[in-house]
Amino acid sequence: MLTKNLEKALNKQIQIEAESSQVYLSMASWAEVKGLEGISLFMYKHSDEERMHMLKLIKYVNERGGQAQISALQAPSSDFKSFQQMFQDLYEHEIFVSKSINDLVHVALEERDYATHNFLQWYVAEQIEEEALARTILDKINLIGNDKGGLYLFDRDVQQITVESAAANSAD
Ligand code: FEO
Repeated sequence: MLTKNLEKALNKQIQIEAESSQVYLSMASWAEVKGLEGISLFMYKHSDEERMHMLKLIKYVNERGGQAQISALQAPSSDFKSFQQMFQDLYEHEIFVSKSINDLVHVALEERDYATHNFLQWYVAEQIEEEALARTILDKINLIGNDKGGLYLFDRDVQQITVESAAANSAD
């Protein structure tokens, strides 16, 4: 059985994962309209992954005698200066999510709920991967600069990065 305090903290994380899904959905739609097909596919997939993170938490809260809250979400930004800026925003958003997961782990320990602490380790590992993935992408973007051929290849290859990370995740 979850304590009220931990249930509240887990519900906050459910909202953050749902909002993350919306953030990447908005990025996917922006990229699609700009004709950046590969980036768009990457973002649609990322949005789906965030929804999966949310669902996993919902199931866990309900399984442990709590009740998952499905709340109103903050609208994400829908206008981006450039795709480079968009990936910078993605990186910063993942750092924010990592901090939120760390805070949640802290509450689980304070409440001496070791089952939840154990459950959250999946999210801790996932955040390491997500931050690393975002940094890899930003490094590639920096290397390319304004080279048109490089940008074309980046849009094509960014899908591959997603596939590779998905394969790595499923191997866990
Ligand atoms: Fe669910 Fe991208 O963290």
